[in-house]
Order: sequence, then C-alpha cells, then structure tokens
Amino acid sequence: MARIADIGQHEGQTVTISGWIDNSTRRGKLLFIQLRDGSGRMQCVMRKQNVDEETFEAFKRAGQESSVRITGEIKADTRSKLGFEMQVSEGEVLQSAEGYPITPKEHGPNFLHDKRHLWLRSRRQFAIMKIRHLCVRAIRNFFDDRDFTLIDSPVFTPNACEGTTTLFETEYFGRPAYLTQSGQLYQEAGAMAFGKTYCFGPTFRAEKSSTRRHLTEFWMVEPEVAFADLDDIMELSEDFLVEVVAYVLEHGREYLEILERDLGPLENVQKPFPRMSYDEACAKLAELGTPVDPEDDFGSPHETVLTKEFDRPIMVHRFPTAIKAFYMKEDPTNPLRALGVDVLAPEGYGEIIGGGAREDRIDVLERKIDEHQLPQEAFDWFKDLRNYGSVPHGGFGLGLERLVCWVCGIKHIRETIPFPRMIDRLTP
Ligand code: 4AD
Ligand code: MG
Repeated sequence: MARIADIGQHEGQTVTISGWIDNSTRRGKLLFIQLRDGSGRMQCVMRKQNVDEETFEAFKRAGQESSVRITGEIKADTRSKLGFEMQVSEGEVLQSAEGYPITPKEHGPNFLHDKRHLWLRSRRQFAIMKIRHLCVRAIRNFFDDRDFTLIDSPVFTPNACEGTTTLFETEYFGRPAYLTQSGQLYQEAGAMAFGKTYCFGPTFRAEKSSTRRHLTEFWMVEPEVAFADLDDIMELSEDFLVEVVAYVLEHGREYLEILERDLGPLENVQKPFPRMSYDEACAKLAELGTPVDPEDDFGSPHETVLTKEFDRPIMVHRFPTAIKAFYMKEDPTNPLRALGVDVLAPEGYGEIIGGGAREDRIDVLERKIDEHQLPQEAFDWFKDLRNYGSVPHGGFGLGLERLVCWVCGIKHIRETIPFPRMIDRLTP
C-alpha cells in the first residue's frame, strides 16, 4: 500500500492507495477524485474507458468522505502542488457516504465544534494538529537533549497548586480529590532527586468564562531545576522557545503555509528576549494609555498592548507577591514582589509561560500557606522538601495550546487541541 506523502518515490509505478474522497467532480467520461489518505491529498483521474462500468458508476455516486481503495499509475503532473497525479485503473468503494455535514461552504464555529470528530479531517485542522505534534516533539527533544528526566506528575491530587477558585473537585473513595492544575509541586520533589526533571501532561482548571485563551483541560510542560535562580529560569525559557520555534519552522513549513502563517514573526524568535520588571511594564502600559490598577494583575488587553510593542517574546518578572501563587519566592530585597516571570508571546498573543524561583525557606512557606488560606496538612509532604536539603530551585510551565495558537497564528485556542473542553463544551 502506498502513501500519498511518499508518492514521489512511485513515479511510473502502479500502486494502490486507501483513503477517503475529499471531493470529486465529473466532466463527461472523466472523474477527478481528490483523495486524502491521512498523509496528504492528491488527484486521481478515473477515465470511464479504463475501469469497468460498475466501478465508474460506484465512484460517480460516492459522496464526500466515502472510503475507497484506488489503484493506478503515478504520473508527474506539474500543474498540481504535489507534482503527481494518479491515472486510475481499478477502484473499490468500501463505504459510500452520503450527506457529509461539512461541505466546502462556510460553517459557523459552533457547528464545526459539534462535528469536531469529522472536522479534524479538513485541511486547516490537519495542519494545526501536525504543528501541535511537531511542537510536542520539539519540546521533548529540548529537555531530553539537556538530560532532564521525565517524572510524570499525578492527575488526582489532594491539594490546590494554582489557587482554589479553578479547582475541579471529584470524589476519591469517599474523600475529596482534585484534578491537577499543575504538576509543579511534584516536579519540585523530582528535582531534589534528579536535579533536572520535567512533566508533560493534561492539567485542569475550572475556568468559568469562555475566552479565546482558556481551556478547562490543557496540556502543560513543566521543567524544574535544582540550584537555579530566576535568571537561570528566564534563560531556560528563552533557549526553549527559540529552539521549539526553530524546529517547527524547519519541519512544519508545509503546514504553516496551509494556515497562511506570516513567518516573519516566527523567524524573529531569537535571543535575547526583552526583559522588564512588572513595575517597568506598568510604567510603559500607562504611557501607552492602558494603565494597570495599582498592584493588580495584567488582563489580556494589557498583554496585547504590551506585546505589540516588541517583535519577539518578552519576559516580565517580579509581579506583586499578593497576586501570585503561594509557592513563589518573595524577592529578598522587596517582599512585595515575587521572583516569578511570565513570558508573553508577540502579535498580541500574551502569556504562554509562567514560572520562576520557588520559596525555599520553610518558615516563609508556612506563612504563605496560611496567607493563602490553604490547609497546612495537605502540604506536609511538600514541606519535607524544605526540611531535608532545601536548595534554591525553580522552573516554569508552558501551556501547549497557547504555544500552538501563537505558532499557527490562529485566533482561538479551541482549535489547537483535538477535542477541546471549555465551560460550554464537553462533547464530542
Ligand atoms: O501561569 P500558570 O498558572 O503557572 C503554573 O501553573 C505553574 N505552576 C507552572 C510552573 O511553574 N511549573 O500556568 C502556566 C501556563 C500559562 O502560562 C499558560 O500558557 C497555560 O499554562 N495556561 C492555560 N492554557 C490554556 N487554558 C488555561 N485555562 C490555562 N491556564 C494556564
Ligand atoms: Mg500565569
């Protein structure tokens, strides 16, 4: 069985391809079948005189997305983008489909998401999923090449990591449990055992509004490094993004083309990324006419305005301690600021990475758990990490779908994951 992706190797040969009819048009005694097989798309030309009567009739009747097996000779064809087409000599319709709901006409996003199980077959969605896959490969390569050990964090957890407002609670044999919001706390244990670790898995947040940047289930990669400070983590994030974007540019051109992605902004992803403190960023935002409320977090309009000022990702560090998670290390020179960093993607995309240095002093950590009104006993195991050989350490989390959204240059995060979960969507 041949694959369309490798069809160039079969010029002049007669091969069989199994796939689905993307589209077919008839001109008299000719059928032009656009075949897709999961690896690519190509044109197969069926002449009435070259196949038996029944076959021609069956293909004439077969609607969009009918499954078929087609045999024929591969010929060079300079008019097609692929460079080849098939002259069909034999064919079989495996299942003749009728009334496929996604037609070449325009459909609304809700309709398409209801039909997500079918929509994945279309060209743009195919390209986005291919880029997602390339991003995952690049991410794993980056950490594996640098001797990080993969330590999977659990999905069922006894405590909150990123604040209690977005916790998904479930029942665990008569006790409450929560779906993980972040694997970080377990990576901290891992880093104390292996020096450098990462996890890469699904994380869950009960986001109560529907936005173009939030899913309730998303994939996060989280590296953690022992004996690292905030600067080390910023450098790691920078090297990481440069390498991942370069990998996609190298291996994913054909998909970026389908998406009509402007490559300029991706080619600009080079070191060094501009760095600024939260206070500097606030001053700049005030200047730009989008002031931040004193000591408040950035909203997405602030991130959009700020990132449009730069041609590459930027790093904003030292946010107010009060708006950041309990584990973030307070700046010893100013406890009102935390040694954390957000990496904001350009072109208005905003935060894709959050991370920083972890609070490594047991007394401060216990105070922070109280201040965040979290139960001390749920963190007994975590506090062990500060009682038995505590060291400066840090890491970050990158949301895969935020990365894919930006790399693809698309508007809404829901198209970056095969089956999106949002407040108003649990199917298909
Ligand atoms: O900034 P966050 O909340 O940081 C953490 O969870 C840390 N514990 C990570 C760490 O240091 N190990 O989330 C990290 C990233 C965000 O920058 C964003 O890319 C993504 O996770 N993210 C979401 N992506 C999609 N939908 C959501 N609801 C998201 N919430 C966060
Ligand atoms: Mg964040």
